[in-house]
Amino acid sequence: MVAELTGDAGGGRGLTSHERAAGRPWDDSYRDGGAPWDIGEPQPAVARLVGEGGFVGAVLDAGCGTGENALCVAALGLPVLGVDVAETAVAVARKKAAERGIAAEFAVADAFRLDRLGRRFDTVLDCGLFHTFDRDERRKYVASLGSVLECGGTLYVLCFSDIGPELGPHPVAREELSAAFGLADGWKVAAVEPDRIRATFNVDGLPAWLATIKRI
Ligand SMILES: C[S@@+](CC[C@H](N)C(=O)[O-])C[C@H]1O[C@@H](n2cnc3c(N)ncnc32)[C@H](O)[C@@H]1O
Repeated sequence: MVAELTGDAGGGRGLTSHERAAGRPWDDSYRDGGAPWDIGEPQPAVARLVGEGGFVGAVLDAGCGTGENALCVAALGLPVLGVDVAETAVAVARKKAAERGIAAEFAVADAFRLDRLGRRFDTVLDCGLFHTFDRDERRKYVASLGSVLECGGTLYVLCFSDIGPELGPHPVAREELSAAFGLADGWKVAAVEPDRIRATFNVDGLPAWLATIKRI
């Protein structure tokens, strides 16, 4: 059993439910180099979206980790900002961008306060962040996303699903996505398709949803 972690995560940010349950802040996952989601390349679902022209305009990657997805999008020549609370992950992402000569920006920032970025985006990617939040955190996060995504813009959420064998941690039901992104709050869930999220311990990936959500 993991000891409950309490208190402040630093930088005025409170610990998330995931950090409290895991007993350690997100940054620790990157210090020991064993983060199972950190696969050293973009998630196949994201690479596919890139190939299909799914990303346009200014792009935000919320919870970007070490930046593989953001860098894959930025290689198209689009302006991309990746944000994450884990300073170690952001430092690794910046180093990769410099080494690869890709002009992506990375910043330490809290997905609950995206308004503080003072910027707006045409496309937002969430690869593996939404599913780490509990119900109250999702409400705050969705409002935060709404403060930075342009009307008509697109949000992609790639999260673990609750359908199939070998479920990932934090499986999300399709209805939870519709509930979180309600019409009354200016969202339209355009599609929720079965997909996979790859992990270092599972190259075939775990069951996931790829949700395409429009800001209206
Ligand atoms: C499962 S990892 C996915 C990382 C990356 N998107 C990927 O696909 O490799 C979730 C990421 O969200 C970040 N994160 C968690 N809570 C956050 C918050 N409140 N604001 C910004 N990033 C957060 C974590 O530090 C972690 O890097």
